[in-house]
Amino acid sequence: MDTKVNRASSREALIAEFDRVRAYTEHLCVPLATDDYQIQSIDQTSPPKWHIAHVSWFFEAFVLPHFVPGYEMFDPDFDFLFNSYYYTHGRMHPRPRRGLLSRPTVEEVFRYRARVDERMLELMVGIDDAKWQELAFRVILGLNHEEQHRELLLMDVKHNFSVNPLKPAYRKDLEAKPGEARPMRWLERAGGIHRIGYEDEGFAYDNETPRHEVLLGAHRLADRFVTNGEYRGFVGDGGYEDPALWLSDGWALIQREGWRHPLYWGRQDGDWTQFTLGGLRMLDPHEPVCHLSFYEADAYARWAGKRLPLESELETLLAEHPVAGNFADDDLLHPAPAGDAGQWYGDLWAWTASPYTAYPGFKPLAGSMGEYNGKFMSNQMVLRGGSCATPPGHTRASYRNFFYPNERWAFTGLRLAEDS
Ligand SMILES: [Fe+2]
Repeated sequence: MDTKVNRASSREALIAEFDRVRAYTEHLCVPLATDDYQIQSIDQTSPPKWHIAHVSWFFEAFVLPHFVPGYEMFDPDFDFLFNSYYYTHGRMHPRPRRGLLSRPTVEEVFRYRARVDERMLELMVGIDDAKWQELAFRVILGLNHEEQHRELLLMDVKHNFSVNPLKPAYRKDLEAKPGEARPMRWLERAGGIHRIGYEDEGFAYDNETPRHEVLLGAHRLADRFVTNGEYRGFVGDGGYEDPALWLSDGWALIQREGWRHPLYWGRQDGDWTQFTLGGLRMLDPHEPVCHLSFYEADAYARWAGKRLPLESELETLLAEHPVAGNFADDDLLHPAPAGDAGQWYGDLWAWTASPYTAYPGFKPLAGSMGEYNGKFMSNQMVLRGGSCATPPGHTRASYRNFFYPNERWAFTGLRLAEDS
């Protein structure tokens, strides 16, 4: 198996990383009441209790039995309840019904988690050197998987709380970062043959490989996200009422769902509000507009006389910048106004105009782990950069996130591009 270990290549370092990632997931649960663990507001989201169990299941399904002879699962039924989508591994409980699992209880799920931690630490300490690299690869994949679920947990808690008329805050201590968005600057980008995709020594998902050549036309990229104030101009100009601005599927969607503004926007005494993980706030015109579907991002770009960037255009831009920005450890859990230096990584996942498809020569991981990414390569769009809910160190220039074009509960945003 191809092994790529970046963040922690020694045994001691990986054990410390395992402890850190697992502990931080539990830290995110501290503000939750027991009642909050059960809610699943829409089919796409999962209850916090399910996330907590599923990221532990990943180690039971793909790591422990492969290295521990005669490994006995904590509870064989959990293999059905907490398998997400790995059909080659076995059957699973349907995703839209995860919120109906009042049992196992929250307390049992945390006991499950503690047991998996115990067995994983025994394994990592005791395994022969000859098998270490293979184990390390699987552990690192499991930790990256858990980090993805940490972002999902925040996205899902936000949606779960948003449907409650009391509009509760996940964390009352969160505050908005004040700032003023200066006028958008346009970066001239040269055309020609460029290379994208991952080829360093560290960890990357299979969908980021292989590195390959792409042909780009000369273009310009905005140095920051579109703001709430700018998007309000689109709403006020009848953007949601003009079919000429919308892709056909998007137009049908906004008619069917009655969408007239981004998710989590609301009205209070004639002003716009926005629901956040810190509760209900007045809409700040300087913050980047967030929780847009691909269709809304695309319609805005058309209204503005621009277009969405290609994923290859964004990757070549991001590769020129250090991976720094407003990530989950900034403790805003909300996008912030662009600073003078521009916005690159963090704040929001930027929608691109690129469909999520395989790179030339793409090979999924062997076995059930090959279901992780490759089988989703149809009907979804790529997003780049990372968000204010992404764990720091989890994203990179080549990182390909993907969502269906109608989905908007992720921390998604809009960066504009145009041909030169
Ligand atoms: Fe998962």
